[in-house]
Amino acid sequence: MSATEPHDDSSNGGDPLRYATDFHAPVLSHDVQARLVTDPAGRYVDATLGGGGHARALLDALGPEGRVFGIDRDPEALAIARDRLADAESAGRFRAVHGTFSTLHDVLGAEEFIPIDGLLLDLGVSSHQIDAPERGFSFRDEGPLDMRMDPHRGLTAQQVVNTWGERDLRDVLREYGEESRAGHLAHAIVEARPLRTTRDLAEVVEEHVPPPDTVGTLTRVFQALRIVVNAELDELEDALEQATEVVRTGGRIAVISYHSLEDRRAKRYLRYGNFEGEPRRDLYGNLVAPWTETPRGPIEASEAEVEANPRARSARLRVATRRDDEEMEAPVPPLS
Ligand SMILES: C[S@@+](CC[C@H](N)C(=O)[O-])C[C@H]1O[C@@H](n2cnc3c(N)ncnc32)[C@H](O)[C@@H]1O
Repeated sequence: MSATEPHDDSSNGGDPLRYATDFHAPVLSHDVQARLVTDPAGRYVDATLGGGGHARALLDALGPEGRVFGIDRDPEALAIARDRLADAESAGRFRAVHGTFSTLHDVLGAEEFIPIDGLLLDLGVSSHQIDAPERGFSFRDEGPLDMRMDPHRGLTAQQVVNTWGERDLRDVLREYGEESRAGHLAHAIVEARPLRTTRDLAEVVEEHVPPPDTVGTLTRVFQALRIVVNAELDELEDALEQATEVVRTGGRIAVISYHSLEDRRAKRYLRYGNFEGEPRRDLYGNLVAPWTETPRGPIEASEAEVEANPRARSARLRVATRRDDEEMEAPVPPLS
């Protein structure tokens, strides 16, 4: 098991909410600043721009030559972030576009923004997306069963629960929710059709899962649907592979994940260069990998940050440095 790295938020004046707005409070913002930025005049990408909190933190950590480029698939987040960072945009230090991070290479290529010095992926949804009932992410409020991060594109959660077969629904709940009652709940969902709102779905779960397990099950069921609606794990795998092509040698990647399905993928890829977690060896038996995880193991939020921002409790930050392709033929240095 990996050791977790102690967290230090001293440069935020000890205020973990320094970059927070009503839209979203970014987690581990000091650690991202301190560990991602290796060149104050460099080029950085936040491919999960959200409310622009981390982007602002990065801009603050950079010198006047430093640039930040933002990507988000949610047009509402993009508009909020651009508004917040309008000063940096007009100074030519910030630019943002609508897009998904699975198209990272093409988006950055079109902007002539390759290679880059650092890439941030702060996965999942923003607080605003969860808190807005009309987006359909939360079982706590009534809203349409939508759950799309980009509300103009793709399948809704309503389409999934009302049209997918029972076995497919079971697989979704099992695989993406790690839900032990997956078969039972998939059957109950099919029986209860049609389901239109978040409350309709929550009631099915509440009817079949008594307390104290109800809230945990609701969380897992909603997480599973959100992951499938937004193809979150495919997006992550594509982005990690493309990161290897766009980050310069010696540049860094920072990935913040909020559940084990994401963190496992980040850990395996950044440690071994594949999603199976299988070490590859050269002719001499030395481990070869495109990244060196630095430090080895996740960084977690301090108690003070978790107290100020409970969402930080589940956050795991992994940082890695892009190795030289020639160096890949050499042994991976011992990791501290
Ligand atoms: C946790 S929030 C990021 C918050 C941001 N770091 C901040 O400081 O406000 C995640 C954001 O990533 C966006 N997102 C999630 N998956 C994405 C993807 N595959 N491509 C682009 N944006 C994505 C979501 O729409 C959301 O705005």
